[in-house]
Amino acid sequence: MRQSTLHQLKVFETVARLTSITRAAEELSLTQPTVSMQIKQLTQNIGVPLFEQIGKKLYLTHAGQELLTTCREIFNELSRFEMKITDLQGLKQGKLKLATITTTKYFMPRAIAPFCQLYPGVDVALEITNHERVLERLSENLDDLYIISKIPDRLDVVLHPFLENPLVVIAPKNHPLAQEKDIPISKLQNEPFIMRERGSGTRDAVEQLFNKHGISVKVRLELGGNEAIKQAIGVGLGISVLSRHTFTPEAALSGLTILDVQHFPIERHWYIIYPDNKQLSILASTFFDFLQLESQAIAAKMFSKTII
Ligand code: PGA
Repeated sequence: MRQSTLHQLKVFETVARLTSITRAAEELSLTQPTVSMQIKQLTQNIGVPLFEQIGKKLYLTHAGQELLTTCREIFNELSRFEMKITDLQGLKQGKLKLATITTTKYFMPRAIAPFCQLYPGVDVALEITNHERVLERLSENLDDLYIISKIPDRLDVVLHPFLENPLVVIAPKNHPLAQEKDIPISKLQNEPFIMRERGSGTRDAVEQLFNKHGISVKVRLELGGNEAIKQAIGVGLGISVLSRHTFTPEAALSGLTILDVQHFPIERHWYIIYPDNKQLSILASTFFDFLQLESQAIAAKMFSKTII
């Protein structure tokens, strides 16, 4: 074990987390043979198998599980050390790791840019994924701060709302309902509907509203991202419910519009959260405060450019 390198442990942790050599290679920007070779060498050093393959799926052995726990402890200790060094250096440099839901994809770069201008030595790693996956990352303690838009069931978190995240009905501009006002929600049942994937917070909120009003829509297509859904709406495959934040100036220009449907928008918020037993670095807590102070102004600037 002592001959194993930190790099091998990093490769192992990524393969174990993603249960896939291919996806680990993608995330680490390595080739698949390199990843396999690192795992092979690590296995030889340890002397017992770390993974077993059943069919196409990769499972951790008992030794693999133990190593994964150890790896996480090592990486947490290292990031605590990095945090101490960063704090010693003030905010001159350091890395801020954020995991955020897909609807923040348009907003976050606009928030990170002025923050990095204020603190030019700071690097930001931004992981954009769906609600379920952000919560998994929080459980695994992989990042400094997380942004979600549904209050999680777990109570052991610090959580602050910082911006509205309304969900609206999006359709092509030439849709027959596009000029109507106060459209009854029941009319959505006649429309082919495009739905986000399972695990999406947007999907959860949409399903909750439809259940509340006894609405059952015809889901024609299920897609794993807001961009893909906007494209599908644009080519006439159906309508959908998406965050108002996805309705960028480009979306408006590319022939999409927001329908005025009863019970919409679904009022929601983005929350910035972290586990309550986590000690934030100076960098993370500065970003936490920055978001709460600046978000309204950044969003107002974004929306002022959107033409409906
Ligand atoms: P999603 O989350 O990317 O999981 O849909 C977005 C949201 O809840 O706003």
